[in-house]
Order: sequence, then C-alpha cells, then structure tokens
Amino acid sequence: MTWLITGGAGYIGAHVVRAVTEAGERAVVYDDLSTGIADRVPDGVPLVVGSTLDGERVARALADHEVTGVVHLAAKKQVAESVERPLHYYRENVEGLRVLLEAVTAAGVPSFVFSSSAAVYGMPDTAAEDGLVTEETPCSPVSPYGETKLAGEWLVRAAGRATGLSTACLRYFNVAGAASPELADVGVSNLIPMVFEKLTGQAPPRIFGDDYPTPDGTCVRDYVHVVDLAEAHMAAARALRSSPGRDLTLNIGRGEGVSVREMIDRINALTGHDRPPAVAARRPGDPPRVVASADRAAAELGWKARHGVDDMITSAWAGWVRHHPAAVRG
Ligand code: WQD
Repeated sequence: MTWLITGGAGYIGAHVVRAVTEAGERAVVYDDLSTGIADRVPDGVPLVVGSTLDGERVARALADHEVTGVVHLAAKKQVAESVERPLHYYRENVEGLRVLLEAVTAAGVPSFVFSSSAAVYGMPDTAAEDGLVTEETPCSPVSPYGETKLAGEWLVRAAGRATGLSTACLRYFNVAGAASPELADVGVSNLIPMVFEKLTGQAPPRIFGDDYPTPDGTCVRDYVHVVDLAEAHMAAARALRSSPGRDLTLNIGRGEGVSVREMIDRINALTGHDRPPAVAARRPGDPPRVVASADRAAAELGWKARHGVDDMITSAWAGWVRHHPAAVRG
C-alpha cells in the first residue's frame, strides 16, 4: 500500500512514516512545513509541500503517488493558542480536514486514519468505578482545540457512512519519547520538555497545582511512547484494509496513570538531576485525572503499548541534549 501521511514532517508524523516504511509499505509525506521539519522526512520518501486546505494539490498528490490510504495528522495542536485563535484552529483542523476528505472520497481512496485526541473528553468524570476513560465516556471538550478534534471525528465518520470509506479515529493520550534523537519533539509545550527546560536552566521544575483530588495532589495522565503510538497507526491501517466499511474509534494510551510529581521525580533520577519541584498555581482547564481504558484497542487491533515511562524519558532526553547543548547533568 501507499500511505499519504499529512503532517508527516511533524514529531508524531515522522514516527508514523518510520513505522510505515519499516513495515515495508510506501509512505508519501504531505506537509505545509509550518511546524514540520523537512529534514525529518527520510531519503526515498517523497515530500509534497502543501496545505490540506488546498484540495487541488491534495488531489494531485493522491493521483501522482497512487495513494491507497491516508493517515491525517496535519493540524494545529496548542490548546492555549486555540483559545486565542479559535477561528484559525477551526479553519486549519476542521476545514482542512473537510477539504482533504473531499479529495480522498473523490479519488476513491479506501482507508483513512485520523489523529484525534483525549482532549475530546474534556474534564472526564473521575468518579467512574475504575477511574478510566472509555470510548463511551461522554465527549465534552473544554478548548477550541478539543472541539476541532471532536468535530473532525464527526466529519470522518459521516464521510465514511456516506461513501464506504473505512475510518479509524485514534484518540491519543499524552504522547512522549522518540525513536531516535533526530525525531524527538522540539516543542516545549508539554510536561516532559518543560521539565527538561527548567533543569537545563538550573531552575526547579514546576508543578501546576498540588491540591487536586488525586493520591499525591498532582494531576494524573496516561503517557504513551510515540513508537507505540506509531505502531497503533499501522495496526489500525491493517484492520481497515482487511474490512472495508469499518468505523473504529479507539483510545491510544497505556491504561496507567502517572502523576506530575511522579514524572518529575523520575526525570530527575534518570537525567542525573536532583532538583525538587516548585509548586505553582493550577493551570486553568486541567482535568485532575485522564487515564485511558486501552481495552478496545487491544480487542480490535491486538495493539498494546510496549514501552514504559522510563523509555519515554530517556529517549526524549537524548533528543533534548542533541538540540540543547547547554543541557548538563545535575
Ligand atoms: C500534563 C500535566 C499540567 C508542565 C495536552 C493537551 C492534549 C494533548 C497533550 C495534543 C498537566 C502539568 C505541565 C509543567 C506541570 N495535546 N504540568 N508543570 O494538558 O495533559 O494535554 O497535551 O496534541 O490535548 O491538552 O499535557 O503535558 O501540557 O500537561 O505541572 O511544567 O502536567 O498541568 O497536569 P495535557 P501537558
């Protein structure tokens, strides 16, 4: 098969490209390079520079490369920015997807994998018996970013119902780690890189609130290694190929909660630092606990995460050190 991977020059997209080529299938990257990095695209993988809002360009890429499946990751993903620029987020994430789906269905491409997010759940009810978020947990996003991901799922499923396109919406939980230092996330908008930044600047890592109703008072999340996440895309792609007309919506997490304090302690230990965190004010909109039930992905795809938090931290740190030569051991 030949997969068009939109956003394939991004952090997660580059890992999906790697999984596709390692599985012996062809990958074509479609990316506007607004945040993607062309150097992440491996030799031998074609790069088409364009926006998914440009339907003609998408249609040409689908035809030129005889694409048989699309993995759509191109999107804006900063929650805070989405609050300030909601119309921009709706245009890029919803209109960009609508235009893409028009081209994909017109070309008769049979399979479509969509990058969704745990952000669709918003503030899930943590009183649920086992404290896990299932795919049946009501979706109630609390940011324009989360809204665009939920609206995106609606578009994808509606297009599937109308045209027979096989679809998978993968709801990523907190993605971390890297397959190799060159593929590491260069952004500093999530917990692990934000802690790295503080440690590199010889400053205490920050905990945004320690008075949540959780065991140690700090927020609990479900961290999943980006290599496992990329493998989930391949598993979804295989599942779609073997059953036309399928419609999958799956959590992609490990089903294991890690608190902010536990994460900072582990980062200190694994990077050779000993810098206790400082407690700062709560960050508005943070749910106390978001942990996936990963049962459906296991049942439908036979997929299960293989890497733990230590792998995520050490591989992310190797990438951080590569990009930040000032990073020193404590
Ligand atoms: C994790 C926890 C922070 C930095 C977001 C999006 C989600 C998805 C992933 C996708 C929170 C706390 C953080 C720090 C801290 N996005 N924290 N000190 O908010 O769970 O999820 O990213 O594209 O949609 O909402 O992830 O990594 O920002 O935060 O205490 O210096 O760490 O408050 O509780 P989050 P995060």
